[in-house]
Amino acid sequence: MNSDRKHGTATLLAQANHLIDQMTGAIIPPVYVSTTYARDSNYELVAHGLSYSRENTPNCKQLETLLAVLEGGADALTFGSGMAAVSALFETLKPGDHVVAPAVMYHAVRTWLNDFCPRWGLAHNYFDASKQGSLERVIRSGRTKIVWIETPANPTCDITDIAEAAELAHNAGARLVVDSTLATPMLTRPIEHGADIVLHSATKYLNGHSDVLAGALICREDDNFWQSIRFQRVYGGAALGSFEAWLLLRGMRTLHLRMQQACDNAMRIAQHFETHKKIERVLYPGLQSHPRHTLAQRQMKSGFGGMLSLLVRGDAQAARTVASRTRVFVPATSFGGVESLIEHRATVEGPSSRMPPNLLRLSIGIELVEDLIIDLEHALEAI
Ligand SMILES: Cc1ncc(COP(=O)(O)O)c(C=O)c1O
Repeated sequence: MNSDRKHGTATLLAQANHLIDQMTGAIIPPVYVSTTYARDSNYELVAHGLSYSRENTPNCKQLETLLAVLEGGADALTFGSGMAAVSALFETLKPGDHVVAPAVMYHAVRTWLNDFCPRWGLAHNYFDASKQGSLERVIRSGRTKIVWIETPANPTCDITDIAEAAELAHNAGARLVVDSTLATPMLTRPIEHGADIVLHSATKYLNGHSDVLAGALICREDDNFWQSIRFQRVYGGAALGSFEAWLLLRGMRTLHLRMQQACDNAMRIAQHFETHKKIERVLYPGLQSHPRHTLAQRQMKSGFGGMLSLLVRGDAQAARTVASRTRVFVPATSFGGVESLIEHRATVEGPSSRMPPNLLRLSIGIELVEDLIIDLEHALEAI
């Protein structure tokens, strides 16, 4: 493999880790649909580690190997969704443990933690990722077990310093988990900055085609904690199906190209609308006006992601009007696909949403950027 990481990563992705079916020479692996695997005449498993598909499948193993290499980790585990990965991780904790997480992050993680922590006997606190010193104040030395960060954060694009969070977590005896769904390993490899575990909703950029629900965890070290997450995945039953793993591996062959185009398009759109008279503010880490732009430059390589949010001049109704007038952007939730999406975040998150009422979240796809800009310009004329 080429030692230049950029070239190496492109090659690694395009060839899905140089995967060639040993039995047939097929350059695209088959989908292994069997739920169970035979033993030989000595009653040994025919293939090491393959016994029952809730424990593992060849397709998931191929995907996990690629994910571990991409993130520079020791091992990876795939799950039936990003949320299944989140819950497997927290379910390894014990009553009395303490966890901290950002006040603004993917809303379902927060909603789930608010319900799960008291039921499981966990103490939890939130911190303000946009305020210096806020994380340090909520960590309890010796008691905090997980420091959770999400960078860039969905949907405000707050950037958290991974290295600083890792140091704070480690000094307190905690592990740092980074939800790196928005960045992907193309832009940030959190383990290189000190993270212990990386989470992806693989439903988003990793798959890239809005047709697979999946999650993944990647670890720095294959230790007892990691083995307890593996146990939770196997016995909790949150496995990813073989077909989904196969589709995901196919989607990942073009991750580098999709990501580069999405980043380039998002930057152009952010710059274009930053000074637009109908826009109050553009939240995008690639803009110099972003409060953590310098940190983003240091922590994110070759782009600032395909997600951005627009605060329109007006109220929730004005924002919803814009979201319903686009003809190229599809008004739908989720992100990370090749097609651009627009959503009024407060409506999608529901009554407990902490989002500004005028916030529109945009997932920028790989279309012609001029089409996207003209589409938003037309939609903004309606307010
Ligand atoms: C940042 C982030 N993390 C985790 C998740 C959960 O992933 P999934 O929807 O695959 O369960 C999402 C989903 O939108 C997300 O945006």
